[in-house]
Formats: sequence, structure tokens, C-alpha cells
Amino acid sequence: MTMTLAHRPVLLEATLAALEPEPGKVIVDATFGGGGHTGALLASGARVIALDKDPEAIARGRAHFADEERLDLIEADFRELERVLDGLGLERVDGVLADLGVSSYHLDDPRRGFSYRLEGPLDMRMGRGELTAADVVNAFDEEELAEILRRYGEDPAARRIARAIVRARPLRTTTELAEVVRRAVGYRRAGHPARKTFQALRIYVNDELGALRALLEASARRLAPGGRLAVISFHSLEDREVKRFLRESPEFEPLFKKPVVPRPEEVAENPRARSAKLRVGVRR
Ligand SMILES: C[S@@+](CC[C@H](N)C(=O)[O-])C[C@H]1O[C@@H](n2cnc3c(N)ncnc32)[C@H](O)[C@@H]1O
Repeated sequence: MTMTLAHRPVLLEATLAALEPEPGKVIVDATFGGGGHTGALLASGARVIALDKDPEAIARGRAHFADEERLDLIEADFRELERVLDGLGLERVDGVLADLGVSSYHLDDPRRGFSYRLEGPLDMRMGRGELTAADVVNAFDEEELAEILRRYGEDPAARRIARAIVRARPLRTTTELAEVVRRAVGYRRAGHPARKTFQALRIYVNDELGALRALLEASARRLAPGGRLAVISFHSLEDREVKRFLRESPEFEPLFKKPVVPRPEEVAENPRARSAKLRVGVRR
């Protein structure tokens, strides 16, 4: 079964070339999502251990890959990778893939609250975490909010936006928040004025950078010598983290100096690929 559930997976050929999946190998797909990469890995004959912290992604995947014997599909945060591998009795694996961030299912489903264009509750949780974006925007003080928007959105208007949010509370929906940000910063910036605010809240709510760090370190401990770590990131905070880790970690050698980015044809077909960067480390 090689069919994908939704869109074409990002940077598929380069990812497969990096991971070198084949029969007998065990590859971890830490971000199952719509199962696109997993489907291609299975088609190569490898065994796949796929994780996602989103119960909806797991339920869809179980229905789609019901008869797949070489797949273990597990609802877990990838920061728990070692616990998952222990549970399966696997000491070492041959590859780890992470295609970071939210999926198109998340962005397209207003109920999940990730989209500043679709009206929905201010949720933004990928998994079953307790903290929602509504908790952050309605309960944190202006200082804390500004720090989150600055750190995870790298937004020069962080302070102004934080002040506007505090004045407009309580905020209940995505579009209410987007409108508050738009009024605070105006239309002058490229892209949607609320893009950075939504990115920042999402990263904070899901502790995305903390989880990424934990995954990188777990991969160093659990990849077999020669094994590959492939990470696809979508914003500079993630990419910086991966780049620094692969450079500084004595366990890895970067497979190439510059990240692999999609060709213009891929971006034209799939706008989500636009900011994708693939970095690969080879376990020494
Ligand atoms: C970009 S999508 C992956 C798409 C997938 N490669 C495909 O081809 O369909 C990222 C997925 O990773 C999941 N995810 C993000 N952070 C996670 C984490 N810390 N632990 C487990 N899953 C996570 C999200 O729920 C989302 O479904």
C-alpha cells in the first residue's frame, strides 16, 4: 500500500534517499501525520515505527493501514521515543524521520484552532495537552505574552500585539485574535499580519522546540552506527536547532552542509513545502 492519505509528502525523494529504507531496516517516522512518508517507507520494504501525538491522525492511520504488518502506529509524543522503542523491545533503529509542525489536517480543520483564516476555538493543541492557546492569550500577563511572541514568533511588534491582546480580552476565536493583531500591526507586513502570532502560540502551546531537542538527543542514543536522522523543518527556530545539533553533536556527521529545499515545481504543487528544509545526520 503506497497510496498517501492526503497531500504529497514534503521532500519525499530526498527524504527516501537520505534514509535509505530497505527490507530488514527499522525506520521511525516520528510525525506520522497523514501517513505520506510512512506509506513510502513501507513501500520500500522497511519496518516502520510511526508516532503521532494527535489521536485523530492515529485513528485515520489505523483505518488506512489496517492490514500493514510492518507498521507499528503509536499515539505518543516523539519526546517519548525511547519509551516507545523500549516497549517494542527495540534497542537500535536504522533511521529516524521528523517532518515537523502541523499537518494540513490541522490547518484545514477550524475546530483545531490553528488557522487565522478559519473561525474556530483558540485551541492549537496537536495532542491531548491541557494548555490551549485560549489559556495563554486570556490568562498570561502582558510581559509573558510579549516574551512568547518575541521568542517564538520573532515578531518585532510583540509588545504592541501583547498589549492589544490584553486590552481585547477575553478572546474566544481564532478570527477574533487575528483581527486584534491585524489592528495592532496594520497591513504593512508581508503575508498575513497574524501569521507570526499564531506560529508563536502554537510553538508555545505544544512546546515544539523542547520536544524537538528531546527527539534529537533520543535519536543520538538509539540510532545504530551509520543510521540516519532526517529532519524537515518549516521555520528558522527549528532549523537553527537542528543545524546546531548536527554540527555540535559528536555522535553525528551532517550528510550535507546546506539543507535540501524543495524545487519550485514542488512548491507550486504544495504551498506548505515553501519553507521546508531537510537536514540529515549520519550516526557515527
Ligand atoms: C507535518 S505533519 C507530518 C506529515 C507526514 N509526514 C505525512 O507525510 O503525512 C506533522 C505531524 O506531526 C505531529 N507532531 C508534531 N509534533 C509532535 C510531537 N512532539 N510528537 C508526536 N507527534 C507530533 C503532528 O500532530 C502532525 O500530525
